[in-house]
Amino acid sequence: MGERKLLVLFGSQTGTAEDTSERIGREAKRRHFQCRVVALDDYDVANLINEPLVVFVCATTGQGDPPDNMKAFWRFLFRKNLPQGSLCQLDYAVLGLGDSSYPRFNFIAKKLHKRVLQLGANPLLPVALGDDQHDLGPDAVVDPWLLALWDKILTLYPLPPGLEIISPDVCLPPKYTLHYLDEDTLHPDPGLLQPTAPRAFPSQLHPFPARMVFNQRVTAESHFQDVRLIEFDVTGSGITFCAGDVVMIQPQNCPEDVQQFCQLLRLDPQRSFVLKPTEPGTPLPALLPQPCTIQHLLTHYLDISCVPRRSFFHLLSYFSPNELEREKLQEFSSAQGQEELYSYCNRPRRTTLEVLWDFPHTTSAIPPHYLLELIPRIRPRAFSIASSMLAHPDRIQILVAVVQYRTRLSKPRRGLCSTWLASLNPEQGDVRVPLWVKKGGMRFPADPDTPVIMIGPGTGVAPFRAAIQERVAQGQRGNCLFFGCRQKSKDFYCQAEWEELVTRGFLTLFTAFSRDQEEKVYVQHRILENRRLVWELLSAGNAHIYLAGNAKQMPGAVSEALQAVLQLEGGLSPSEAEQHLAALERSQRFQSETWS
Ligand code: 2AM
Repeated sequence: MGERKLLVLFGSQTGTAEDTSERIGREAKRRHFQCRVVALDDYDVANLINEPLVVFVCATTGQGDPPDNMKAFWRFLFRKNLPQGSLCQLDYAVLGLGDSSYPRFNFIAKKLHKRVLQLGANPLLPVALGDDQHDLGPDAVVDPWLLALWDKILTLYPLPPGLEIISPDVCLPPKYTLHYLDEDTLHPDPGLLQPTAPRAFPSQLHPFPARMVFNQRVTAESHFQDVRLIEFDVTGSGITFCAGDVVMIQPQNCPEDVQQFCQLLRLDPQRSFVLKPTEPGTPLPALLPQPCTIQHLLTHYLDISCVPRRSFFHLLSYFSPNELEREKLQEFSSAQGQEELYSYCNRPRRTTLEVLWDFPHTTSAIPPHYLLELIPRIRPRAFSIASSMLAHPDRIQILVAVVQYRTRLSKPRRGLCSTWLASLNPEQGDVRVPLWVKKGGMRFPADPDTPVIMIGPGTGVAPFRAAIQERVAQGQRGNCLFFGCRQKSKDFYCQAEWEELVTRGFLTLFTAFSRDQEEKVYVQHRILENRRLVWELLSAGNAHIYLAGNAKQMPGAVSEALQAVLQLEGGLSPSEAEQHLAALERSQRFQSETWS
């Protein structure tokens, strides 16, 4: 019998694939496997030819792209020179996580499955297609698939004689143990924000502590939404970027939440600790300093305001000294309890901290060793850069819509990062924000003489502000912008800037103020009204088209308007117009970045 070694490799963007991978890792341990759970890009892919058994867990993002932490692996896997049959020793299975409301549902998982098969590996099961759109979330597909997977794996690797599957009633040991230091208060908080942190090119592991220069509200006070134009000073960071790139910001929890959490769990924020892996060889969490204070762990690392996942309730149930609470937690972590968990947690967007309030007996009994397993880390947030280095050297500007909405819970729900950014006041001292820059998906034409048509309602206009600034600095006049907002007097941000560029002849601007009249007027209506110009730019000028924004129906409606232009002005049939737009997309002459 071979060694009982299982490797779980994941590509995760929002954390679901990572969470599912950790779950598979725990289930493997219960079946006496030596198991490692690693992000694809943290794994030395050359070793894949020596692995006996791998489960791949991969999300598909956006328009069918791989998550950021598997991009290097993806490039490697599709190299032409990989020999056929090179993975013939490998038994594998692929679990995909996707959203069927997007085109190319689970594209990455399907393509990965095919490619690994082509390289000679042996599939244990058909690829699983987890779907966010399912009423019960992706677990509706994942649960039965995992049961089948373990059946299959245990036929190949039967349990060692005398051993049984460790029952789910037994809590597995924590990944790390937490050891308080006695001379704790002598350690300064070695925070990410300290400008003295060792210098390296800014990245997730080494964010640059950028000084906030200004933080201006750009919507009227009476408008329902607070939108900010925020500027950071990145002098000395080595950061460079171009239009279409994004800035990643590492947010932090608000002090009140941190304080409440410490009270609930009876933690002393000033105490310092070090972590030790329970199993030798387990790497320590890369973003956590050692030693670290509880205050730092809670402010910068643990996402106590995220909506907790099913695994949270499962782990919590082990610690509960109270029968009622334990039963409820067990129910929430069972397959049958998922509908109830959804209405308790996901629908009203209840936070981890609020859930802990509801289970006071359990919460005060949580062993600190398990904190890092219980609560995921705070993820960085991506913002389209809204300024150009050519117009604002050493500066990065972003447009941030402060996320706030109501559910049936009495307290409004707030986005962690946008609320934190909005709360910072650079006029009251030296405000630092940890950030780094990443290549964005949207690329503007290298030849500045190529005209561009940009369609960006709301904060979707951010990357276009960067592109316009960049192109104006290069003397380029062919810039056409369709901007949409609710009311001219309330949320027409950057109005003065656009008007100045229009006057100077650098910008053609069309605005759609959806609520300034009885009937709704949207960007797609303006596109259709101005179809002659749009057609001329596209046909005679070879213009590139860009679309960005966050209205769910907007991208489809804009595509339809563009197809109508091709029909009405270009004389194409409906199917030709559809194909033409698809061809523009394939050749990167039509690019979009949309979010919901
Ligand atoms: P509304 O809120 O009045 O419906 C920026 O959010 C702008 O996008 C707002 O004016 C908003 O209008 C508009 N918007 C909402 N849904 C849209 C859609 N399906 N297509 C285009 N614009 C839309």
